[in-house]
Amino acid sequence: MAPSTTTVSAPQLVVGLLLALTTVAAVSTAESAPAVNTSCVTGSAGAAVSIGYGGARASAGAGMSLGAGVYRATCPRAEEIVRAAVQRAVAADPRMAASLLRLHFHDCFVNGCDGSVLLDDKPPFFVGEKTAVPNANSLRGFEVIDAIKAELERECPETVSCSDLLAIAARDSVVVSGGPSWEVEVGRKDSRTASLQGANTNLPAPTSGVTTLVQKFRNVGLSAKDMVALSGAHTIGKARCTSFSARLSGVGVSTGGAVGASKDLTFLQSLQQLCSGSAGSALAHLDLATPATFDNQYYINLLSGDGLLPSDQELASPGAGAVPGADDDVSSLVALYAFDASVFFEDFAESMLRMGRLAPGGGSSDGEVRMNCRVVNSST
Ligand code: HEM
Repeated sequence: MAPSTTTVSAPQLVVGLLLALTTVAAVSTAESAPAVNTSCVTGSAGAAVSIGYGGARASAGAGMSLGAGVYRATCPRAEEIVRAAVQRAVAADPRMAASLLRLHFHDCFVNGCDGSVLLDDKPPFFVGEKTAVPNANSLRGFEVIDAIKAELERECPETVSCSDLLAIAARDSVVVSGGPSWEVEVGRKDSRTASLQGANTNLPAPTSGVTTLVQKFRNVGLSAKDMVALSGAHTIGKARCTSFSARLSGVGVSTGGAVGASKDLTFLQSLQQLCSGSAGSALAHLDLATPATFDNQYYINLLSGDGLLPSDQELASPGAGAVPGADDDVSSLVALYAFDASVFFEDFAESMLRMGRLAPGGGSSDGEVRMNCRVVNSST
């Protein structure tokens, strides 16, 4: 596991402290979390924290029942296999942790966590989600998932679903990057369908304003607080110039408080240099300071104007204080997480569990355990 590095420079800390101290009192960190019991969440940036969900199983809605120990009897080595494979994949390619974490998010936001994001197109008969705008030329890690699935199939055939594999791999990717750990709830079934339109509609865009971001999360049953906590995933990984070009418009001229305005002009100018002449495909770290470490640096960056995506920087904008329909003050949460890494870790783990419970509308009876994550069973 990577060491804890929640290093904060003096000016950043001052900004963070001031903002946090004036706003922390306004933020409820307990929020409306489900009944908490004793599953342990640990993280290297803070003390071990305790969260969990009432009982061994949690209902994910629509007849899907998730539990922490489902594979203990049927495939005892499942989690061990995934963890070891994620560790190997990240050792070979440090960005893979970010890519695997993002796959789970893009899976869950389109008709629940059902592995639909992994299905390949089969023209002209089947259109999956891989060519959706947020996914095309962007999502990665499919080969890693294939390799883990093949190993799981050898160990215990048709037992561990692809959607559960994504949820476990996401957790292990966070842990291997130095972030918190939590007990993954499993028992999902894989879909036999996918929705290109759902992927295009449900997933937030990097140009979305904070009201839209809150709305997209609410649309799937998650809160503004979940949105802010889960956005902290952008503490690892990379983005293409095309994803943050809106941050660069107006660099060098007075931007008068628009999204493109930064307290850190040097940051934006270096991005402009990176992107000029790259045809939009050059990559920048989402967290310029500690790019491969899962810590709270993302929020510290936002406070100093160094968020990469326009949607990231929006979370710290003056307008993010009072978003219609938001149950929490978005910019106060940013300050809180910048100030206290252990609160971020705890909230992130809780929100990952909540996101992991998003269930397909049709219920588990429509699902299967795919043998190959890229195709539904009847066609293999
Ligand atoms: C809040 C709304 C969000 C927006 C608008 C957003 C948008 C984006 C965009 C545009 C990229 C770069 C894609 C590219 O340039 O190819 C990206 C990368 C990433 N996103 Fe998000 N995202 C959001 C929330 C999340 C959430 C909830 C998670 C996970 C819990 C997540 C995890 C990641 C990761 C880890 C990467 C880096 C992936 C890599 O390096 O392969 N994002 N996101």
